[in-house]
Amino acid sequence: MKPVITQHIRAIHDYPKAGIVFRDITPLLADGPAFQQTIDHLVERYREAGITKVVGIEARGFIFATALAYALGIGFVPLRKPGKLPGKTLQQKYQLEYGDDALELHADALTATDKVLIIDDLLATGGTVLAGVALVEQAAAQLHECAFIITLNDLPGVQRLNDAAIPYYTLCEF
Ligand code: PRP
Ligand code: HPA
Repeated sequence: MKPVITQHIRAIHDYPKAGIVFRDITPLLADGPAFQQTIDHLVERYREAGITKVVGIEARGFIFATALAYALGIGFVPLRKPGKLPGKTLQQKYQLEYGDDALELHADALTATDKVLIIDDLLATGGTVLAGVALVEQAAAQLHECAFIITLNDLPGVQRLNDAAIPYYTLCEF
């Protein structure tokens, strides 16, 4: 059963700008038992899935992805904002509300034999995770699923993942 974590997600009104309700995960992270329950639940879900790499998205995705990779005893691979990874990279651009951003993956971090779980803290418009999925595809690795702590149902990410038939899992929804 999914742990109930909504009470550990803080709503901050008008951040980063007027009219936005920001879902803040820091209370969840600061609560030892709640954070442990969150990771333990993901461990149960993915323990027997044959995943070979947990791919985490900068920056908040790293927090959950590294804890999960450690608990599963498998490797962690970071997707980073441009210019942060020192080796040869693959890059995927995506759209923000105003302008573009991009994610990068070390070109040798995944191989065709890898079965990958992508983790991020939150799904909003879906631009970030879809760039992550595209990078996993560029690397010719197999995507098992994307997992989020939070999905925001009034934004298009959920629909975009469904339309693209990308499997995903979420611990809580707003
Ligand atoms: C936030 C969040 C997701 C992304 C979701 O990251 O952590 O990665 O936005 O939004 P989307 O579904 O609309 O793409 P942010 O870029 O704020 O970076 P951070 O984790 O470094 O704070
Ligand atoms: N919380 C955290 N990150 C976000 C949010 C939010 O509500 N929306 C887009 N990125």
